[in-house]
Amino acid sequence: MSDDKVDTGRRHFLSVATTVTGVIGAAAAATPFILSLKPSARTQALGAPVEADISKLEVGARMIVEWRGKPVWIIRRSPEMLKALPAMDKYLRDPGSEESDQPSYAQNADRAINSEFLVLIGVCTHLGCSPEFRPVPEAELSGGGFLCACHGSKFDLSGRVYKGVPAPKNLPVPAYRFIGPNNILIGDDTGASA
Ligand code: FES
Repeated sequence: MSDDKVDTGRRHFLSVATTVTGVIGAAAAATPFILSLKPSARTQALGAPVEADISKLEVGARMIVEWRGKPVWIIRRSPEMLKALPAMDKYLRDPGSEESDQPSYAQNADRAINSEFLVLIGVCTHLGCSPEFRPVPEAELSGGGFLCACHGSKFDLSGRVYKGVPAPKNLPVPAYRFIGPNNILIGDDTGASA
């Protein structure tokens, strides 16, 4: 038996052994990965649209629903609140929401489909705190709005950020649509138009 044959045989054995080990190892490594890709019911539910019943939401009040792990605010603005909005522009960094995140149908002064109902993701665009709702005008918020206690960012009652505060953008508006006079679907705007 030449050295070549021995070497070839051993090489073949080593090659087969390595391949089998590799396949077993790859299978073992892939199994938990593949299992981890299977979406659980909870994961699916977290990404699903959420329906909000606004029938009991009083004028001037806010309700909060959870969507994708985030607080979504629905504020029922009074005529006085809406009347104060056009005068806010001079205080705001991005009054036209040019650099902010919202669907096209919410890129207007009211940032809403129906101006009475404001829908926002209630997470500060600076570092993610949840701002306080301040419905009544006060020294710092002349038309009422939202104050982030973490670093002092302020937003008006359309969620538009003030100049000179750390938050860079207006509060985001999620996709949404009305599915009845008293029901809003958050996370789905199929059929909604600009
Ligand atoms: S997180 Fe809101 S101001 Fe910093």
